[in-house]
Amino acid sequence: WKTPVLIVNFKLYKSGVGEKALELARILDKVSKERGVSIIAAVNTFDAYRIKNEVKIPVILQHADAVEFGAHTGRINVELAREYNLDGLLINHSERMLKISDIDFLIQKSKDLNMVSVVCANNSRVAGALAFLEPDFIAMEPPELIGGNVSVSTAKPEAIVETIEAVKSVRNIPVLVGAGIKNGKDVRKAIELGAEGVLVASGVVKAKDPEMALNDLIGGMM
Ligand code: G3P
Repeated sequence: WKTPVLIVNFKLYKSGVGEKALELARILDKVSKERGVSIIAAVNTFDAYRIKNEVKIPVILQHADAVEFGAHTGRINVELAREYNLDGLLINHSERMLKISDIDFLIQKSKDLNMVSVVCANNSRVAGALAFLEPDFIAMEPPELIGGNVSVSTAKPEAIVETIEAVKSVRNIPVLVGAGIKNGKDVRKAIELGAEGVLVASGVVKAKDPEMALNDLIGGMM
């Protein structure tokens, strides 16, 4: 993916599932094409297949389980995501945390299957530790700022700097940041501090006008 990237996490917001998810993904696709920036849709397992067939932008799952095919009830694995042509995975989001051996399994499996792994970390120390597992991206999100109106760029600029230092001291893996990002100013600040992209959920998925919100965010990437 060309950096800087903008990952939009649809979560399980009512405005980010079903028909609404498809509508939103089409808006992401349109804005990505118009503005020439990498926008990635992180969607739920149900909607992923349909969305993937309707848009050109990368579509990733919000989670997959660290299991092989077999006797696992109610689970989905990376192979299944691959079979439906999905582009990658969010791994270890604060709302779906995993143990480190499972994170490692999912990253390695993504590599084997040519899928992009975006691993989330709740702070700079965890981000540094996860760099040893060599994911494609590391996304740092302070949990207490997720879903709020104060962005990581405003409230914790030092955490962004520390995360980048921690990660880069291990491997040259691009660092993304997220939590509370609502506008182009938040994005610009994150990028100025060295982030190579952002993760946004409520600022787009719950926006009255998601297209306007996206265009504003992208303004900070230019
Ligand atoms: O994965 C991104 C997400 O956790 C950030 O959420 O609503 O603070 O943009 P939000």
